[in-house]
Amino acid sequence: MPTWTLHTADALTALTQLPTGSVNATITDPPYNSGGRTANDRTGSARDKYVSGDAKHQLPDFAGESRDQRGYLAWMTLVLTQCLRATATGGPLLLFTDWRQLPVNSDALQAAGWVWRGIVPWNKPIARPSKGGFRRSCEYILWATNGPVDAAANPIYLPGLFTASQPRGNKRHHITQKPDELMAELVRICVPGGTVLDPFAGSGATGVAALRAGRQFIGMELTDRYAEVARTRLDAA
Ligand SMILES: C[S@@+](CC[C@H](N)C(=O)[O-])C[C@H]1O[C@@H](n2cnc3c(N)ncnc32)[C@H](O)[C@@H]1O
Repeated sequence: MPTWTLHTADALTALTQLPTGSVNATITDPPYNSGGRTANDRTGSARDKYVSGDAKHQLPDFAGESRDQRGYLAWMTLVLTQCLRATATGGPLLLFTDWRQLPVNSDALQAAGWVWRGIVPWNKPIARPSKGGFRRSCEYILWATNGPVDAAANPIYLPGLFTASQPRGNKRHHITQKPDELMAELVRICVPGGTVLDPFAGSGATGVAALRAGRQFIGMELTDRYAEVARTRLDAA
């Protein structure tokens, strides 16, 4: 049976404790810090930024949304450097981001030493319209590897575009929760039976998908309420 561990901890602190090369893939969805261009922007909470006024849920806020661009680049570089060290040679990184933070995250992952391989758009059919311009209906998954792609170890063919909606009703556990069906496809990038690392676990979406796909899981989550949610979901999976 696949095993899991969830640390209620700061990602960077907990990552430094992981042995070198001890996981097979890093799949993560960090706080985006999107829109943090001014002091005013940065004092807003995650709820202020990402929950629309007419939302039906009252999900709790989460940590880590107050860095400016320079601070975010420096911090993500440190986090992704530790993820690279913990990930075995040939192992992949999948990193969620939005349009505004895509440049800073692609810089951070390359500064950390990952080899950038591509961008996979995640299309959300129910996105807010944008008057006078384009609907921002996509978020993005940056794909990178620790050195060469090890296709012999995991000979899969994955799509270059996904369409999926955020969970609703009693399936919604986190403000920025990623859809189960999307995560089920993404965890296939991890070698069968290997270990997936997610240092920003949130409600545990990566871990749940990993366990269901027969992979092991190691996660970190700083916000107590969400760490509890993730533990409950991981137990059930
Ligand atoms: C974008 S959310 C992840 C959502 C998750 N993918 C899901 O589907 O539920 C980012 C998470 O990172 C957590 N976080 C923020 N700063 C952190 C830190 N320094 N260490 C660990 N977790 C952190 C937040 O509390 C938040 O739950």
